Parts: sequence; structure tokens; C-alpha cells
Amino acid sequence: MGHPRAAEDPLPGHQVDIPAFLPPLQDDQAARDLNRQYGDIVLEVMPSNVPIVHLYNREDLEKVLKYPSKYPFRPPTEIIVMYRQSRPDRYASVGIVNEQGPSWQRLRSSLTSSITSPRVLQNFLPALNAVCDDFIELLKSRRDPETLVVPSFEDLANLMGLEAVCTLMLGRRMGFLAVDTQQPQKISQLAAAVKQLFISQRDSYYGLGLWKYFPTKTYREFAKAEDLIYDVISEIIDHELEELKKSAACEDDDAAGLRSIFLNILELKDLDIRDKKSAIIDFIAAGIETLANTLLFVLSSVTGDPGAMPRILSEFCEYRDTNILQDALTNATYTKACIQESYRLRPTAFCLARILEEDMELSGYSLNAGTVVLCQNMIACHKDSNFKGAQQFSPERWIDPATENFTVNVDSASIVVPFGVGRRSCPGKRFVEMEVVLLLAKMVLAFDVSFVKPLETEFEFLLAPKTPLSLKLSDRVF
Ligand code: HEM
Repeated sequence: MGHPRAAEDPLPGHQVDIPAFLPPLQDDQAARDLNRQYGDIVLEVMPSNVPIVHLYNREDLEKVLKYPSKYPFRPPTEIIVMYRQSRPDRYASVGIVNEQGPSWQRLRSSLTSSITSPRVLQNFLPALNAVCDDFIELLKSRRDPETLVVPSFEDLANLMGLEAVCTLMLGRRMGFLAVDTQQPQKISQLAAAVKQLFISQRDSYYGLGLWKYFPTKTYREFAKAEDLIYDVISEIIDHELEELKKSAACEDDDAAGLRSIFLNILELKDLDIRDKKSAIIDFIAAGIETLANTLLFVLSSVTGDPGAMPRILSEFCEYRDTNILQDALTNATYTKACIQESYRLRPTAFCLARILEEDMELSGYSLNAGTVVLCQNMIACHKDSNFKGAQQFSPERWIDPATENFTVNVDSASIVVPFGVGRRSCPGKRFVEMEVVLLLAKMVLAFDVSFVKPLETEFEFLLAPKTPLSLKLSDRVF
């Protein structure tokens, strides 16, 4: 893995040599090894000569992530930028995830106000209950009748993420969870393309970046995935636009309410239609694999703790035959503590990237403005110095002993940031929080869940479960 060496001057003008490391980092385990070997701040020089500073120290993470920035800079994913700039027919900008500065701010403020609104999301709760109920029915139908095992559970979890985020963004049920209909081939390809997108982004970071000069395999795979996602979701959006024209006049209030996010985005003034369309595509793509991974990590955590299931069940058993209401979500102290603890141990976005906006002193080193830093939050969350018994799944740490309520007001909670921090944090956070509690509750109400083999993780840009994964789902008997 190479030896520490004094960097000559990898960060222009930096004053002190940070332990530096040359070969490419492959995964979260490699990042952990670097931390063990070289300490709390490590400079990685990418083969493409781009220097990246890894941060592991809690104070450093807080300093970087809490920096009061008007336009927080997250390094763009170059392969996306290059590709989108080559397709002006489809993209008017590189999109909300990769734009920077005032152009990012313009997209962010106009495109995300409705998906982050608590009122809009509360209205969405009955529809989300229905999506989760259909997911449960789909799981029942896919079980082996003898063994009760659902093979390739992740495929169904991806469909769940897709149906939920499409319902949110387009305001209409898509039917991806239907039990008896064969999924159109394009839909099964969509989840695979989203996965490929993350894998290609990972691959584009490592190596010499030859894809910038000619269409390497990495670039071709990326472009193919990006095109497929665009084509499939764009077709759905166009179909919805047609339906909307036909039905707008006779749509009832409920249907119009559910469609408010879609309509809100379409009606935005001063925004190019290409930006509206690509934002809907990006939002939908952002909610598929992230959700599936998160659900699997949460399920693995709670099934590994024999005391957890009965306590989750007790918070929801009165909702066995009815919709789960907002009050139940608000009061589900233990369930929320389990999810928060799972985020601490295995967040699918396990580190956060930023570009420093001003010179900063971190772990005794002076870093210049413009330095790319990777905040290694998950690794910091695994340290006993930040969380007592850090390797253990212990939901109780998120329950206030005095009030017995769920709380994030505990030491080091500021580094548990599964959805990021500040103005650039995930606009899907509130929606996903609702979705994950509902899904966990409905799964525990329906089944006694167990993993056929213990879950292992791998690095796909996101932290992802190693697949295929089989889950045994025995009917819950009350
Ligand atoms: C379990 C599911 C999800 C997880 C774990 C997740 C996590 C994240 C994280 C860590 C970031 C980076 C934040 C930062 O740099 O501070 C992010 C950004 C983003 N997420 Fe999510 N996300 C999820 C689902 C969603 C959904 C459902 C949507 C859309 C409805 C969405 C849309 C976005 C967008 C547009 C950004 C870029 C925001 C910006 O740069 O301003 N995500 N997400």
C-alpha cells in the first residue's frame, strides 16, 4: 500500500508536510487503514495528480462541515460534468448535484422547496403507506413457499425506492410493485443503470483519468447508464405531461395535492425546461439505490439485536391493519433510535467531500483555500473516543434517559450525518426519514425477518451491501 512520504508540494503553498500516500484508495477499508497507519490527516495524491486530504478527527470534521458558507463547494463529479456539457440538447446545466456557486443556489432554491416542505410531505403520508403495503405484498409473492426465502431482495428494495420516489416526484403511482405483472425490461434496467452510475463514478476517480481524453470503458459504461436513466425517466415524464394535459381539468383535489411537487417544478418561471426535466431525473435516480442500501443496513442492524424487533413492534402494533399516521412516526422513539444507530455504523454515503473556501488549520496543518477534503465521518463514528462502545449497535445512546425521547443531542452526534450538512445537504432527507421508518415498521409488522447469510459491505462510491442477498421472511403471528 505504499509508504508515507513527504509530499513535495502537492497543495500549492501548504506550509507543513502532511503524511502522503500515492496509490489509489480502493474503499472504506483502505481509508481506515490509512488512518491507522498515518494518523488523523492524510494526503492522498491521486494518480491523476489531484491531491485529496482525508480528515478523521472529529474537531476537523466539525470545522469543515459547519463552515458558514453561502455556497458550500462539493467537488463536482468530473465525469458527469464532462458528459452533460457534451449534451446541450439534454442539459442546460450540469445539474443541482454538480453545479457550484450562484448557479447551484439558483437551482437549489427553486427546485427543492416543495420536496423539503413538511406540509407537502405530510400530505404524502397516505400514498407512502400504500407504496409500502404494496412492497410487503410483493415480498410475500416472491418468497419461496417452502423456505420463505426471498432471493435477490435488493432488486425488490430498488423497485420500492423507485416507486416511492416516482410517486413523490411525479405525483402518480407507477405500478412498479405490482405482483402479477412482469416488469417492463426498461424498469429492471433502470435500477441496474443507477448502480452502474455509482460504480462508474467510483472508477472515474481512480486511475489516470484517461476517460477525459478518449472514450474508455469507464466512460462508455457511464454514458450508457446516464443515457438509459435519462431515456427511461424522460419517457415517464413526457407521458405524465401528456396525461396532465388531458386530466388537468377534471383532476380532483387529492390527485392535484399529490401532484403538487411535479406541478410546482413544471410551473417554475425562469428555469429552462431541460433543467426541470434533468432535476426530476436526478431526484429520482438519487432515491433508488440509496434507499435500498439504507433499508438493508437498517434491517441487518435490527435483526442482529434480539431485543430490537419486539420493541419496534410494540411501537407500531396498533397499526397492523391501518395506515401508520404521523403521530406514530413522531412517537416511535426506539425505532428512530435504531435507524440513527444504523446511520452511525453504516451510512450509505459514508464520507462527505468539500472544497475549502478559506485557509484552514486542521490537525495542526495549514491547508489552503481550494483544497479538496474528504470528511471520513463513518470512520470517525467507529472510534471509541467519539462513541463509547463504538463498534456495538446500541440504539439506547439516542434515547434521552430523563425524558425517554429520541434525541440527537448527544456528544459527537454532529458527525453522524447520513444526509450531509448545511445548505448542500440532501433535499430528500425528510422524505427518506419518513420512508425508512414506515418501511421498517411495515416489514416488522408483517414478518419475522432474518438474513440467510450475514450482510457484508462493499464500496461502490456509496457503501453498498454485497449482493445478491437472500432474506427469510416468516409471517408474523400476533
Ligand atoms: C437513503 C437515501 C438517501 C441518502 C442516504 C442520501 C444522502 C445524500 C448525501 C450524503 C448528500 C450529500 C450532502 C452533502 O454534501 O452535504 C446528498 C445530496 C443530494 N441528495 Fe440525497 N440521499 C438520499 C436520498 C435522496 C432522495 C430521495 C433525493 C431526491 C428526492 C435526493 C436528492 C439529493 C440531491 C439533489 C442532492 C444534492 C444536493 C446539493 O448539492 O445541493 N437524495 N444526498
